[in-house]
Amino acid sequence: MSVETTSPTTNQQPATTIHKKIKSICCIGAGYVGGPTMSVIAQKNPDIKVTVVDLNEQRIADWNDADLSKLPIFEPGLDAVVEEARGRNLFFSTDVNQAIAEADMIFISVNTPTKTYGAGKGMAADLKYVELCARQIAEVATSDKIVVEKSTLPVKTAQAIKSILDNTGNGVKFQILSNPEFLAEGTAMTDLANPDRVLIGGDQTPEGKAAIQSLVDVYGAWVPQAQIITTNLWSSELSKLVANAFLAQRVSSINAISELCEATQANVEEVARAIGMDSRIGPKFLKASVGFGGSCFQKDILNLVYISKSLGLNEVADYWEQVIIMNNHQRDRFANNIVSTLYNTVSGKKIAFLGWAFKKDTNDTRESAAIYVADRLIDEQAQIYVYDPKVSAKQMQADLNYLSTRTETENAKYLQTQTDPYKAVEGAHAIAVLTEWDEFKSYDWQKIYDNMSKPAFVFDGRNVLNQEALEAIGFQVQSIGK
Ligand code: UDX
Ligand code: ADP
Repeated sequence: MSVETTSPTTNQQPATTIHKKIKSICCIGAGYVGGPTMSVIAQKNPDIKVTVVDLNEQRIADWNDADLSKLPIFEPGLDAVVEEARGRNLFFSTDVNQAIAEADMIFISVNTPTKTYGAGKGMAADLKYVELCARQIAEVATSDKIVVEKSTLPVKTAQAIKSILDNTGNGVKFQILSNPEFLAEGTAMTDLANPDRVLIGGDQTPEGKAAIQSLVDVYGAWVPQAQIITTNLWSSELSKLVANAFLAQRVSSINAISELCEATQANVEEVARAIGMDSRIGPKFLKASVGFGGSCFQKDILNLVYISKSLGLNEVADYWEQVIIMNNHQRDRFANNIVSTLYNTVSGKKIAFLGWAFKKDTNDTRESAAIYVADRLIDEQAQIYVYDPKVSAKQMQADLNYLSTRTETENAKYLQTQTDPYKAVEGAHAIAVLTEWDEFKSYDWQKIYDNMSKPAFVFDGRNVLNQEALEAIGFQVQSIGK
């Protein structure tokens, strides 16, 4: 414990209450958020013991595998950080209770998928995993704890967690903080090492401020104080949803313009460049695509829409829902364009997919546009052959089965996976680029052309290939927004 009277280097109000120096951290959930975030916290704070726990035994075994290529998450740079900290002060375990009991600070990093049942089905976040964590913490804790929400949660979730902890606990004191994660997959390690900002929300009471300061100190090990901002709990929870909604809105905005470009012979890349150089608009997140995916954007906007509707703010709800409507339209439009270009029938035709992940440099496929496009083309009885450098065949089948109403056996008849990209495209009528993996650019496109059915079509859903060069070979190319 240290007594904090002033905090000269921070932009925070000085915490007047005693704030705790954290010695032991537990993180519940060893997924895309918990795993990388805790690895970096442990790397930068060698004096803090960090234990990441998960119910999923295979996942924990993979995190502990001596062969770092077996880590359950592919994220550039993650293996080196795990190698440095694992066994020193970073541990992965399935013993959730022990880790909770030992920790001063507990991060909740479990999944909060969109509800698939009951009230708010298809929109609200399913908080059952979060609630289970809160109940488990309440049951096991015998000393005061700071509980940190890391998962994206609907605004006001902290109140529910607090109520469970305070009413079912063993009389120990809990402080709840919100510390949303802003890392993007594929660049998680650099985002964590060098974040634009770290956001910490907490109660504006002396105890709440002391808890905030304890977490500020953890990040302060490597993040400049000016980049650590603190707010009340509700602003922090809401800011995460709003940040993702604004980012997704930019993608849907440029995707809407991509359709207009195709109808007017404008070029969406030229338009994006021209508008992005206006410093008020900025150049980032203006890449037209087959549609955004990932675990956050759709879920968080649906959440925002649901919350707005619940509060009777129908115009606000409709405004944000349009971002999702546009994204659905972009995916459908891409699939429909393949069908109409291939003479209105793809039945029995081989269509090769390059990429299945929702973006490059990750093995995550949640909400990937590829799944939706495949489902739509399989409705038309196309034969899909997929190559992705990091996604397993099992994962692709699971994704399709989750989305589609067809039986697993039927889906398996239409979706094949290839581990060699040249095999995936052999004899294909068309290639659809669904993920912007860099390696696609350096393929031998002449060889690919020679081995395809003619006319050979390329539908570039990511504007990753050189359209002119492919056309010079003989391909018929359609790129988004051109
Ligand atoms: C996002 C937020 O960026 C991150 O801050 C938050 O913590 C989690 O959600 P992530 O989902 O990992 O991160 O990826 P992001 O880079 O935001 O991309 C989301 C989707 O939008 C991807 O499918 C991507 O391909 C697409 N996208 C992004 C575009 O289509 N065009 C763009 O210009 C940018
Ligand atoms: P995210 O992208 O938010 O990290 P993931 O699905 O990758 O989401 O990770 C969430 C992890 O949380 C999963 O590995 C899941 O097994 C784990 N999990 C969910 N509920 C609990 C729980 N009550 N106790 C421990 N782990 C849990």
